[in-house]
Amino acid sequence: MSVVGVIGSQWGDEGKGKVVDILAEDAEMVVRYQGGNNAGHTLVVNGRKVIFHLIPSGILRDDVECVLASGLVIDLRVLVEELDTLKASGVLDKASLSLSEKAHVILPHHLMLDKLREQSKSGSVPVGSTLRGIGPCYEDKIGRRGVRIGDLYHPEIFKEILEATLEYWRPMLEGRGEVCPSADDVIAQIMPFAERVRPYVKDTVGFVQQGLKAGRQVLLEGAQGVMLDIDHGTYPFVTSSNTISGAACAGIGMGPTKVDHVVAIVKAYTTRVGAGPFPTELDDADGQFMRDKGHEYGSTTGRPRRCGWFDAVVVKRVNQINGSSSMAITKLDVLTGMKELKICVGYRLDGKEIETIPMHGLERVEPVYRTMPGWDEDITGARAMSDLPANARAYLDELVRLCECPISLVSVGPDRDETFLLQNPFR
Ligand code: GDP
Ligand code: IMO
Ligand code: MG
Repeated sequence: MSVVGVIGSQWGDEGKGKVVDILAEDAEMVVRYQGGNNAGHTLVVNGRKVIFHLIPSGILRDDVECVLASGLVIDLRVLVEELDTLKASGVLDKASLSLSEKAHVILPHHLMLDKLREQSKSGSVPVGSTLRGIGPCYEDKIGRRGVRIGDLYHPEIFKEILEATLEYWRPMLEGRGEVCPSADDVIAQIMPFAERVRPYVKDTVGFVQQGLKAGRQVLLEGAQGVMLDIDHGTYPFVTSSNTISGAACAGIGMGPTKVDHVVAIVKAYTTRVGAGPFPTELDDADGQFMRDKGHEYGSTTGRPRRCGWFDAVVVKRVNQINGSSSMAITKLDVLTGMKELKICVGYRLDGKEIETIPMHGLERVEPVYRTMPGWDEDITGARAMSDLPANARAYLDELVRLCECPISLVSVGPDRDETFLLQNPFR
């Protein structure tokens, strides 16, 4: 195996960062390809916590080439902050970073627009975004008026695109009492950061292709989750990029024939941050138990995550969309101590039972549950299936059966070591 994708399979925060860090031990290249600093990936290495928003979570492994590919939207200030932190800790001496010249740049007006939308002041549905300017930046990209990293080093091109883009947004911003910045102001704000990242900018398509040709082990690091995908998620309560495994090919510039294994990262229960339907959401003591025990507070915004039972209707469909080869089940330890566990196997909508995700009405479905017995034993020390209590094994078996996909990894705690592999996706 040489190319492995890691994809979030619910509404984000499944533990992708932790799994990428583990699999990166066998990788030579780790590539992020969509989203931006709306992502928050927390890693715990020997008890030390590290959070990445942009830089691939593989960076902590020695001799790994990390790539930010063209499908990303980049807030240069955040990238520079992460680079400074990594430089200070010596990590960047051991790993390399490349930034695509074609990735789009998050500009000040994107942040202003994101905020206006969340205040219902601009015609879009407030979705509880991360307010990082992600949606408006992708909007400029699709509207063919975006600024790309490579434009920044050609002052005339940069200014020309910027002036046209700002002219496009000026009426909207000024109509809502905002001051639309001038192109010169934006240039003065952006260029110091642009110069700082300049040594990392390159044609990442060529770079990744060289790696593939040389037979490198390449890990593709997804952000968000499939239920937040712009096409396949709970639209309009989604993010503004494609988050499915197929998006890796578009965001990197790589053919689908190159991907050998897709690992779906699946939390043993479900969480969601922000607005939108969530059929198995729990507003009771069980939901609070998951939030407290799983520390379910956003790594990017600190917001409490909504918590609920495992939804097998969602994950089965996601495994189909993703072409998942295996599932990595995370946070199984959080369920320890629950008397019984419920798994959603269907929905009741307008008096009918369905086993698929309806396009309309997901906010009012009633979940149909299968109930499983829980376990009390501490499982954080488990390093093989046989170390798990019988009820935990039965729960995992049921997930495999309902989601129609085998398990390659089980995570029983936040630390790198609190994990066991059933199959190494690289081998
Ligand atoms: P990501 O966005 O998918 O990378 O996930 P986040 O980092 O936003 O959220 C996952 C959180 O759960 C992080 O705080 C991780 O440290 C933590 N975590 C990951 N795996 C486990 C696990 O198996 N058990 C527990 N208790 N915590 C975990
Ligand atoms: P990781 O990679 C969880 C959610 C936001 C909001 C919606 C749109 O850490 O799993 P955006 O700022 O993208 O326009 O917000 O998507 N969202 C996430 N939720 N994890 C994430 O990333 C998310 N990135 C965006 O909460 O509901
Ligand atoms: Mg996260």
